[in-house]
Amino acid sequence: MKKVFTLLLTISALTYFLSCKNEPNVDLDSQLTNLLESRSKTGSIDWYRMPESDDYAALPNQDAKNPVTAVKVELGKMLFFETGMGLEAKYPFELATFSCSSCHVPERGFTAGRFQGIADGAIGFGQTGEGRAKHPLYLGDEVDAQGARPLPTMNLTYVSNALWAGTFGSFNVNEGTESVWNQDTLVEINYKGFQGLEANNQRALIVHRQIMDKAIADSLGYTAMFDQAFPEIPVNERYSRKTVAFAIAAYFRTILTNQAPFQEFVKGNTGAMSDQQKRGAALFFGKAGCVNCHNSPSLNSVPHEFFAIGVKNHYQTGNEVFRTGPSDKRNLGRGGFTSREEDMNKFKVPQLYNLKDVGFYFHGASKRSLRDVVEYFNEGIPENPDIPKSQISGFFHPLGLTNAEMDDLTEFLETGLFDPNMLRYKPSVTMSGNCFPNNDPLSRIEMGCN
Ligand code: HEC
Ligand code: HEC
Repeated sequence: MKKVFTLLLTISALTYFLSCKNEPNVDLDSQLTNLLESRSKTGSIDWYRMPESDDYAALPNQDAKNPVTAVKVELGKMLFFETGMGLEAKYPFELATFSCSSCHVPERGFTAGRFQGIADGAIGFGQTGEGRAKHPLYLGDEVDAQGARPLPTMNLTYVSNALWAGTFGSFNVNEGTESVWNQDTLVEINYKGFQGLEANNQRALIVHRQIMDKAIADSLGYTAMFDQAFPEIPVNERYSRKTVAFAIAAYFRTILTNQAPFQEFVKGNTGAMSDQQKRGAALFFGKAGCVNCHNSPSLNSVPHEFFAIGVKNHYQTGNEVFRTGPSDKRNLGRGGFTSREEDMNKFKVPQLYNLKDVGFYFHGASKRSLRDVVEYFNEGIPENPDIPKSQISGFFHPLGLTNAEMDDLTEFLETGLFDPNMLRYKPSVTMSGNCFPNNDPLSRIEMGCN
């Protein structure tokens, strides 16, 4: 009797489990697969698939002068977080207290954790960057801060031309813009024929007050790693901003959100996405028209495209921002770089993975949640009255989504496009042993480095 009872219980539990959990919704799967095939630029769902991070041959946009190798990636992974290179601080008390990752925090989708990143000239970190603030002894125009919210430094193998304006990189969308490369000393690097990341990083090290030479490499403990990574580069150039930039570029190309549920789906593991995520994806690639602009494995635009969707600039959002204002030509986006009338107010279509933790959206950080972003696209009304209507993209218009549809789309963005395991790209230590991303006294206390 007891046996029969147990059996019945098991059967009913099993039936319950099978009927409610993980029952594949075949209609939803085939609808989404068909949609992906029809919007893909190759006709295949593989268009959206990212390679494994160590499949170097499959990483696009590599620089012929800097092919990705394992030793470069390992070196770049440490240097990106190395506060010991911050030796061009404005004042001595900030020396060696900041790094690239001060503004590109892995826990915040590789952005700053606040509306504007500040490296030299700031103190503190909080939990994930939200606690960083201007150093009281720095004037506002002395800090290292830029006129836009940091772009995420991940999925960068899909970036051929760096920055919101696509400024850096000699090829792809910058072919034909040679006449404006002499506009300032930073942009002149484009005449040297580098890919976007190699050019950007060399300039970023100058802008962000970091330096490398043989003595610094020796004192921080990197000499042997440079020797392994760059044996073909003459010794007198081997420990330099250029090789640091190259190593970080190689590391960047391997930071891929290839464990996100949507990536699992395109690999054929359809059970990795929830029904709500699938409905959201069907809206993204269908009715909501997001794919008209966001169409690549990282959901940026390949080749890069620039659009005006009428969002506010940094100085217009009411946040206290440094070193930017109404006359900042970065407010003009692509047009600020090319000076072409048709490019004015247009910004590069950004990637869309791991945005949940970013907390500040659009180039001016005018939105605080992905739901707000979805509502903005659904309403289709520019929030910045200064942008001429003629510049606004024809794809930006009211979408007529219901509340439930906006919920689904938000869920797709928040969790369907979220790789939960990004800390695999963060080193446990750097060679110097310094605290990172920041090394100032307050950050050290907050991060438990003392
Ligand atoms: C003070 C904050 C700050 C620091 C420090 C910083 N960045 Fe950035 N980073 C930004 C901002 C802001 C942007 C976007 C700027 C723009 O597009 O005008 C950006 C953009 C980038 C991009 C372009 C990504 C894309 O999708 O086009 C790369 C690459 C990058 N940073 C690499 C680095 C490297 C390498 C370092 C260290 C040498 C560094 N960053 C240090 C704030 C910072
Ligand atoms: C007209 C082309 C276009 C369409 C259509 C479009 N986007 Fe975008 N999207 C952009 C551009 C360009 C930006 C950057 C704008 C800026 O900051 O100035 C952006 C930014 C975003 C951001 C913020 C990313 C960040 O790092 O701040 C999200 C999220 C986003 N889009 C999601 C969507 C969704 C969801 C849809 C569909 C409802 C959509 N986009 C439709 C072009 C487009």
